[in-house]
Amino acid sequence: MMRPETPADYAAVERLTREAFWNVYRPGCVEHYLLHRLRDSAGYLSQLHMLAIVGDDIVGSIVYSRSRVEGQDGRAWDTLTFGPLSVVPTRQRQGIGSALVRHTLAMAYEAGERAVLIFGSPDYYGRFGFVPASRHGITLPDGGSLDAFMALPLYPGALDGVHGVFREDAAFGGIRDEAVDAYDEAFPPKVKMTLPGQIF
Ligand SMILES: CC(C)(COP(=O)(O)OP(=O)(O)OC[C@H]1O[C@@H](n2cnc3c(N)ncnc32)[C@H](O)[C@@H]1OP(=O)(O)O)[C@@H](O)C(=O)NCCC(=O)NCCS
Repeated sequence: MMRPETPADYAAVERLTREAFWNVYRPGCVEHYLLHRLRDSAGYLSQLHMLAIVGDDIVGSIVYSRSRVEGQDGRAWDTLTFGPLSVVPTRQRQGIGSALVRHTLAMAYEAGERAVLIFGSPDYYGRFGFVPASRHGITLPDGGSLDAFMALPLYPGALDGVHGVFREDAAFGGIRDEAVDAYDEAFPPKVKMTLPGQIF
């Protein structure tokens, strides 16, 4: 079952996000703090924040925010960005993450949105139709590209003529380690570990 997040879910969804990301990309994680920041941001799209529910438990969460592409000629195009996408570790690889992505992409299409731009694993997101954003002439803010920076037009031709620089919500930037550690103190203790595969 899937349903939108409500304020009553905030604490549980931050705990879930922390469980999903803990020690995966770095020792500990920042994503629960990022989610907290996103909720206070003008670009946070609560109507697209969907939860996966099994029984009484929240087992997955996908968070959307407003982003845009800025062209060289002063034009700009609104886009969407999702993340953090979290599935509780005991329920991973059961199709929950895919269901959250597919369901919310359909909601975004219905809402008339143009495209979704994300950072993530090309192996995972390729299955939903994401391709490197560079193929659409969309670059990182520094003008560079990354395989992990991907785009999905939500309808044929949605990114035709859309070229420029990606701007994500300000909540993604300027995350300080001290602020994450301070926020983390309100959560149950967890041990930070350095593990293979971490990228930060
Ligand atoms: C990534 C995540 C959201 C996927 O959700 P899920 O419910 O476990 O995934 P699904 O069951 O829908 O899909 C499983 C498939 O995705 C693949 N997959 C899962 N995580 C992956 C990853 N990080 N990179 C590449 N492939 C991944 C699995 O190998 C599996 O492939 P298969 O179908 O070919 O066997 C979940 O594993 C998670 O919360 N991970 C920790 C946090 C995270 O990395 N979030 C995404 C950040 S971009």
